[in-house]
Amino acid sequence: MEAIAKAHTNIALIKYWGKRDESLFLPMNSSLSITLDQFYTTTAVQFCSCLNQDLFILNGNLADDAETTKISKFLDRIRELKGEKIYAIVNSNNEVPTAAGFASSASGYAALAAAATKSIGLDLDKKELSRIARQGSGSACRSIYGGYVEWEMGEKTDGSDSYAKPVMDGQEWDLSILSVLVGSKQKKVLSREGMKRTVETSPFYPGWLDTVEKDLNLAKQAIQQRDFDLLGNVVEANALKMHATTLGANPPFMYWQSGTIEVMEHVQELREAGIPAYFTIDAGPNVKVICQQKDEAAVRQALLNVKAVQDVYLCHSGPGVTYLPVSAVDN
Ligand code: ADP
Ligand code: DP6
Ligand code: CO
Repeated sequence: MEAIAKAHTNIALIKYWGKRDESLFLPMNSSLSITLDQFYTTTAVQFCSCLNQDLFILNGNLADDAETTKISKFLDRIRELKGEKIYAIVNSNNEVPTAAGFASSASGYAALAAAATKSIGLDLDKKELSRIARQGSGSACRSIYGGYVEWEMGEKTDGSDSYAKPVMDGQEWDLSILSVLVGSKQKKVLSREGMKRTVETSPFYPGWLDTVEKDLNLAKQAIQQRDFDLLGNVVEANALKMHATTLGANPPFMYWQSGTIEVMEHVQELREAGIPAYFTIDAGPNVKVICQQKDEAAVRQALLNVKAVQDVYLCHSGPGVTYLPVSAVDN
């Protein structure tokens, strides 16, 4: 049976950075995100006994061996769960730049987890889907839900208690997130490799672990109290701390480009001018600016005036993963 799922990306307010178990994708710390309405992946999966290997088509192109192997390893977990050795055609389209720090791996694996489990005949609830999506890309476990979402790191070694939970509906505090494009080229250091190198070699990594739980608690408190300045300050500081750990890695690396810094400076200037806006940056050069809806037009215009800025996408909170009727998508 064919199944089609749509999942949105999410932006981490408190970052997931580092794994304690690479094979099961168990994180070193809990994290918090908002699912975004503007960026998403649609993935169609069809398992068929007529196939003798998996096929992966991404944005209309047959993927290379390395990408197909990644998908196959993920599908192996689903095959194992179902107890059937049967292969699939995966046809996925990203309405988001791929591997550029816009979280394509989050929407990509959330959509794949949902479509593949349904297609093979498993009927999983969202908690189970979140645990599966996590094993394709950690951040994907949060994209199963809409709004504000926490990924609880869990304690167990088998990963059974490491999955995402909804914290608050996005409509209850509908902030504006401006995704600022300064470069859409694929990053040189993928998130997976970057966090591994940081955990293994950066002397700053223990400093990250020392404070991330406190940051998370403050961010959750700010959301409950709708305290925008409290949220903005902790979100911005948490992102800077994450990026600082990469500078201490061996060999060192940095996701920022000159345009990234220009945008960061501009956001700080906006604040000095009395407009509350804060930035965060995932593993890539692009910046996400968070502000309140009343300020979104002014912040957007200010960002468009920055020389390095190629585009600004205005996002709000988006929904969790959904299934689309098979006839609705022409593939
Ligand atoms: P990003 O910032 O886009 O999440 P990552 O380095 O985390 O970047 O992950 C990029 C990788 O995610 C890609 O190289 C690819 O392996 C995987 N990916 C991206 N989109 C999809 C998709 N639609 N389906 C499956 N995997 C995807
Ligand atoms: C900086 O989930 O992309 O965006 O689990 O190895 O696939 P893998 O990595 P990924 O890492 C995301 C890192 C981050 C922070 C975050 O989204 O929490
Ligand atoms: Co990613």
